[in-house]
Amino acid sequence: MNADEMYEKMKAKLNGIVPDVELRYKAEIAVEINELKVQRNAVILGHNYMEPALFNSIPDFTGDSLDLSRKAAQTDKDIIVFCGVRFMAETAKILNPSKTVLLPAARAGCSLAESITAADVRDLKAKFPGVPVVTYVNTYADVKAESDICCTSSNAAAVVDSLHADTVIFLPDEYLAKNVARETGKHIIFPSAGPKAADAAGNDMPGELDYQLIGWRGRCEVHEKFTLKDIETVREQFPDVVILAHPECSPEVTAAADFSGSTNAMIRYVQQSQAPHYLLLTECAMGDNVAAANPQKDMLRLCMVRCPHMNMITMEDTRDALKFNRYVIDVPEEIRVKAFRAVDRMIKIG
Ligand code: 13P
Ligand code: SF4
Repeated sequence: MNADEMYEKMKAKLNGIVPDVELRYKAEIAVEINELKVQRNAVILGHNYMEPALFNSIPDFTGDSLDLSRKAAQTDKDIIVFCGVRFMAETAKILNPSKTVLLPAARAGCSLAESITAADVRDLKAKFPGVPVVTYVNTYADVKAESDICCTSSNAAAVVDSLHADTVIFLPDEYLAKNVARETGKHIIFPSAGPKAADAAGNDMPGELDYQLIGWRGRCEVHEKFTLKDIETVREQFPDVVILAHPECSPEVTAAADFSGSTNAMIRYVQQSQAPHYLLLTECAMGDNVAAANPQKDMLRLCMVRCPHMNMITMEDTRDALKFNRYVIDVPEEIRVKAFRAVDRMIKIG
């Protein structure tokens, strides 16, 4: 496909969403990337939070964390370019270690992954011996290596249920833990000395005493910004709006929404339903991508926060990743083997 054809393809999807001048410029880079991809026998995986021009041009597969982990595990290409954040690229390496995994940005972290260390998990295990540890995939490999099983936002409740345990340590997302506790009928405490607990309005929140889930005070810096007030304000203006919230939002927000699910689950919900208006409480770029895929549907926008980490993945850097073989993601083998057990166990649950 030449640059004109690529431009037409992107314009058909993104007209009115991405400025024309940007489409023309990015169509040329997309052609370059697709040529490099073939030359280097690479596959490009694109998370649902990638910016619309990138999302709609270069990935071989797009999806949520779970979906892309599966694609990374299955690929027979030599190189996996992960257009997502570091923990996702690490998960690809954990699952498919013989491949070269490239992350187009040197850092591209995640506030949840930064919130907990392997030593923190070891301390919790010492405090609660024998209690199984479930770790969200939004963590680094050494934290996964200390865990019994991982989960993503699309299978967290199923993973907790699969353990048939009275008590589970669930790390590190405070809000996902609370949402899972509600879904699985469990109570939750936060025994850590970690950051002081406060709700979205800044009020202190006490821990609860009767516990079956043991949590941690990590939060997604994007999803913690959405509030109940946002929902009330939108519902006043659009009483028939259908609101979808990612489970990294606070439990007050997910309870007030009409649906809560992983990024893929939200995309499916919009595709398969007919509502007068939709509002997605998640990362901004995904709102654009869902609007582009559903031009006949009315997507309201409450685009407050672009994930600064996902935003580090640009088309220019993706091209340079393939050109200069950077940034190579490596996981020390003794950590990888342990982390593999936790991730593979999750993938087998489905
Ligand atoms: P998903 O697994 O739903 O794609 O979520 C990943 C993520 O980082 C959400 O902020
Ligand atoms: Fe991490 Fe939140 Fe960004 Fe997802 S949106 S990568 S959870 S900071």
